[in-house]
Amino acid sequence: MKSDKKPDVCVVGLGYIGLPTAAIVARSGCRVQGVDVTQGVVDTINRGEIHIEEVDLDGLVHAVVKRGLLSASLTVAAADVFVIAVPTPFGPNHEPDISYVLSAARSVAPVLKPGDVVILESTSPVGTTEQIRDLIAEARPDLRVPGLTRETPDVSIAYCPERVLPGRILHELTENDRSIGGITPRCARKALAFYKLFVRGTCVATDARSAEMTKLVENAYRDVNIAFANELSIISDKMGLDVWEVIRLANRHPRVNILSPGPGVGGHCIAVDPWFIVASAPQESPLIRTARGVNDGKIHHVIAKADALITAHPDARVACLGLAFKANIDDFRESPARLVAATLARKYGSRISIVEPFAAELPREFSGTGAIPIDLDEALEDCDILVVLVDHDIFKVVPLAERAGKIVYDTRGIWPDQHKAGAADSAAEGLRLVG
Ligand SMILES: NC(=O)c1ccc[n+]([C@@H]2O[C@H](COP(=O)([O-])OP(=O)(O)OC[C@H]3O[C@@H](n4cnc5c(N)ncnc54)[C@H](O)[C@@H]3O)[C@@H](O)[C@H]2O)c1
Repeated sequence: MKSDKKPDVCVVGLGYIGLPTAAIVARSGCRVQGVDVTQGVVDTINRGEIHIEEVDLDGLVHAVVKRGLLSASLTVAAADVFVIAVPTPFGPNHEPDISYVLSAARSVAPVLKPGDVVILESTSPVGTTEQIRDLIAEARPDLRVPGLTRETPDVSIAYCPERVLPGRILHELTENDRSIGGITPRCARKALAFYKLFVRGTCVATDARSAEMTKLVENAYRDVNIAFANELSIISDKMGLDVWEVIRLANRHPRVNILSPGPGVGGHCIAVDPWFIVASAPQESPLIRTARGVNDGKIHHVIAKADALITAHPDARVACLGLAFKANIDDFRESPARLVAATLARKYGSRISIVEPFAAELPREFSGTGAIPIDLDEALEDCDILVVLVDHDIFKVVPLAERAGKIVYDTRGIWPDQHKAGAADSAAEGLRLVG
């Protein structure tokens, strides 16, 4: 990467991470080529449009494509910096699948030239960046690669994970601090110089393995802490306690900060990444593995509780509020809310209605169940039981008067005042079920 001119950049993988990154790098004045294996994605971006939902991304992509700074392609061409942001799912036994990463690295290797920088952004098990290095060394014996030569390497290879929150990606891509791990300190410095072009947060240089582990640890930390809250909710339920009240009071302790329980943990990060640690150190990670089990188990606890409530009220109409894996987004991947609602829909059919303001239509597993999508007003007018599965803002602001007389199972604790409302059926297991 020459220091006197902005580098040409190639971003491989144009999804939730790659496309916003490509657009922001292009906005900083670099010429960016985006690469994806999906023709539809490439065509959409070249029209100046987007194929994913993210706040303000459409306008930015439109602008940088129009200015000729961003274009998309199915094949990798020469550049100065390569950023790999492809999926890293897990396999049937929760083992990390880095085949997309290796395939992306294989597509980059042939076009590398001395001075280039290769950066992996995909969440990856420890050692993946070194595997990329080994792959490049094998594919390009003409290049000196870092860590395998005593001389100055021809290329630099580094790892830099993402920490963005969906819905705030453009903001967080530039404002968040970054851990930038090089195969060697020189690699880290080269990668850091690239991120300085568009990141305002602090960029901290480290080694590749530490940076890989840092990303996994961040999400395992969240998972373990959510598991504690979820376990408390199940214990409190058994003991007839309101977990939200218990947590509210406990958090008044100056050094206690318990997170919020919910119907389980979803999405493609927190519910996935801890397994990458478990796969690397299975004997040494009982806490992280157990947390995964607790959070997955919470989904079944919620299904069982909702099921019992619906069975106890055979004439009641039921609205499930929310399908997304977290509040105020349209991402339904690995969503516990979606699993709970679909399970109830399969069992109770047309008695179940779904309110999801962020979905244009119900996911395919609902077809044939008889469950229908309705809006929030219809749910409040027509349904007797409300099962709160997602804490969307639009649900939070429903006034008590409009929930009065309803039987509520609030898995997110959004309506702490519900106990003040009279339920239509005083024989209900509880006017406001929590836990
Ligand atoms: N989405 C997030 O909020 C988030 C946050 C932090 C980290 N991450 C991590 O970032 C990585 C990417 O996640 P994402 O959400 O952007 O995934 P995504 O599924 O939205 O996008 C990945 C894109 O890569 C493309 N692709 C797959 N193989 C390819 C290849 N060999 N060459 C070119 N393109 C290829 C796919 O077609 C897809 O468009 C993952 O490792 C994920 O764990 C995601």
